[in-house]
Amino acid sequence: MQSRIDETTMNERRAAEGRTAHERADAPSILVTGGTGTLGRLVVSLLRDADCTVRVLSRRSQGDGEGIEFVTGDLATGEGIEGAAEGTEIVVHLAGSNKGDEQKASNLVREASRAGVRHLVYISVVGADRIPVTSSVDRAMFGYFASKLGAERVVAGSGLPWTTLRATQFYELALLTAQQMARLPVIPVPAGFRFQPVDAGEVAARLVELALGSPAGLAPDIAGPRVYGMAELLRGYLRARHLHRLLVPVPFPGQAAGAVRAGANLAPDRAVGRRTWEEFLAEHARAPSDSRSRAASGN
Ligand SMILES: NC(=O)c1ccc[n+]([C@@H]2O[C@H](COP(=O)([O-])OP(=O)(O)OC[C@H]3O[C@@H](n4cnc5c(N)ncnc54)[C@H](OP(=O)(O)O)[C@@H]3O)[C@@H](O)[C@H]2O)c1
Repeated sequence: MQSRIDETTMNERRAAEGRTAHERADAPSILVTGGTGTLGRLVVSLLRDADCTVRVLSRRSQGDGEGIEFVTGDLATGEGIEGAAEGTEIVVHLAGSNKGDEQKASNLVREASRAGVRHLVYISVVGADRIPVTSSVDRAMFGYFASKLGAERVVAGSGLPWTTLRATQFYELALLTAQQMARLPVIPVPAGFRFQPVDAGEVAARLVELALGSPAGLAPDIAGPRVYGMAELLRGYLRARHLHRLLVPVPFPGQAAGAVRAGANLAPDRAVGRRTWEEFLAEHARAPSDSRSRAASGN
């Protein structure tokens, strides 16, 4: 009861000061692009926990939530993004897709500059600067890395104070890939490919720390605790789902694939993530029979 009274009093005091219970006078107002995505949702939630006022840019219109304002716009075409950064101090740019991230960054930077934001934060990918994308074969499979590097350059050349964090692949992406590949009775696995996936929640926490700190330029990479062969990642998933598939190594052509085989997408000296692939799978990829027996035993 006491805490209810305290809360009510505090809310009244804050209301009198023109703020909601979740907004501190010194908490910044932040635009998050990609705030509806896997990483973005986690970042938005942490920013709200830190009392920040959050604006989310999305291509789909949606209703505002407590302390979260949604604006509708498309960073690829620039449609609807005018004024999106107006009145915000920090922009956290997480919107991304398989291609065209350089263009998205350019359109966003124009708005951020117009609004005079004091910190632009960008999420990139480990290996963006080390995976050469020169041929059409490279582009078909690894064009994403080139577009992330292009976007990094747009951010660094924006004239705004900036921070870029490169992360390895999130477990959610590894899971989606494994689910799609497991549809095949025989799975072709790129020979010699290794990954060091990371928990998106840990990346989100680091991004928020960086966003609320001083602009740092290129921050140290963030990567998961272990490097796995691609076949090993897949086997972990198949085991968790009690599935049996034949895995067949397939050599991939091109310079970019060669760089990946040489580990250009890894950051073993930055294995700062704690949650493992096995822990993630235990939560997200249980076999249906496991869930049924747990439910039956009441556990
Ligand atoms: N997934 C990984 O393993 C990984 C690893 C390293 C770095 N990253 C980077 O981390 C960021 C987030 O990844 P994620 O996996 O969380 O992405 P995701 O779940 O696929 O979400 C993508 C987000 O980008 C927004 N978006 C895409 N195109 C847009 C456009 N044209 N205009 C405005 N918004 C657009 C989407 O918003 P709406 O659909 O609501 O418009 C959505 O919120 C990306 O920049 C990605 O490159 C990802």
